[in-house]
Amino acid sequence: MSDLHLTCQKSLFDLEDGVTYLNCAYMSPLLRSTMDAGVAGLRQKARPYHLQVDDFFQPLEKLKSLFAELIGCPNSQQIALQPSASYGLSTVCKNLRIKKGGNMVLPGGQFPSNVYPFRELAKKKDLEIRTIEPPSNFAHRGCIWNQMILDAVDENTICVAISQCHWADGTLFNLEAIRQKTRECKAALIVDGTQSVGAMPFDVKVIQPDALICAAYKFLLGPYASALAYFSPEFDRGEPLEYNWFNRRDSHQFQHLVNYQDEYRPGAYRYNMGEAAHFIAVPMLISAIEQLLVWTPHAIQEYCRSLVEPFLKTAEKKGYQFENEYRGHHLIGLYLPPEKDVDLLKERLASNRVFVSYRGDAIRVSPHVYNDTVDLETLELFL
Ligand SMILES: Cc1ncc(COP(=O)(O)O)c(C=O)c1O
Repeated sequence: MSDLHLTCQKSLFDLEDGVTYLNCAYMSPLLRSTMDAGVAGLRQKARPYHLQVDDFFQPLEKLKSLFAELIGCPNSQQIALQPSASYGLSTVCKNLRIKKGGNMVLPGGQFPSNVYPFRELAKKKDLEIRTIEPPSNFAHRGCIWNQMILDAVDENTICVAISQCHWADGTLFNLEAIRQKTRECKAALIVDGTQSVGAMPFDVKVIQPDALICAAYKFLLGPYASALAYFSPEFDRGEPLEYNWFNRRDSHQFQHLVNYQDEYRPGAYRYNMGEAAHFIAVPMLISAIEQLLVWTPHAIQEYCRSLVEPFLKTAEKKGYQFENEYRGHHLIGLYLPPEKDVDLLKERLASNRVFVSYRGDAIRVSPHVYNDTVDLETLELFL
């Protein structure tokens, strides 16, 4: 927890004037410092004769340590750099301990990257997928939905594949309670942190997930095509998706790479993507996470709270419905009142350069530290 009280940080980003960008859950903008780090990486590649062997390994170690710090993970050896959330979740599925005739529990309407790998596994191993849809009524919706998920877990459950907060409507899942139930049932807890980690505190020591996978281009403020993943020591002896040389023991001895090596580097190193020394993405991620650690996810969440609380009061008065008990402040799905036409709203917002996402009959509003109250007031005008 931090005492830091954040103010609007827009000047640190490369956003244009006249744009109301409330869509971090779609794609974050970049910090100027992160852009500079990417350009420096590009320049490094332009003059490869400056590259040293350490340049392949040390920045990645630094990135792993920073991400470990962000998620409260005591050992950065358990972190891997991957290209996407689907890659990480497919890695998980390749290594889950299967119970014959078992089931996997997923909340309804999850992002496909946290569904397809489990569906494939279910097909291959003849397993049941238990999809737990939310209640249709908004009264205590989040509380009831969480309870339904807990009730679906039994001794045949292989895993719960879930997120900290639902990508479309922002419902928070009670990961501590789900961890407890999964532990009792000897089931794994797999968390997709893409829509929360960075903007909301997550503590590996408290939640103790089996895996936590985060695409980095949203609330981690990183580039596209990167994800950071935590794999618990349970996965230490698993099979990676790809067999790249970089992850093997002694891979820094470039002269001896054809002394083929069966052993991997320790921890989750085996799950790094090929070419994980990515000279552009790694420094960009380092710069973004360093900044997040200065701000802290707690203070980012509190800043977002200060923006959305007055806004949501107005939205409620205008008949919009949203999860109001089990939700964070950085991602909120607003369901339109029946008389509102979503297409018309979409048109008006687009022509006024107000950016949110549309998910069925709901709009998804996801602010960050580059927003201010004027941005929320601007959106409010169109509701
Ligand atoms: C919850 C969630 N997970 C993951 C992703 C991205 O997945 P991937 O990296 O596989 O494209 C998104 C993108 O919107 C998402 O909302």
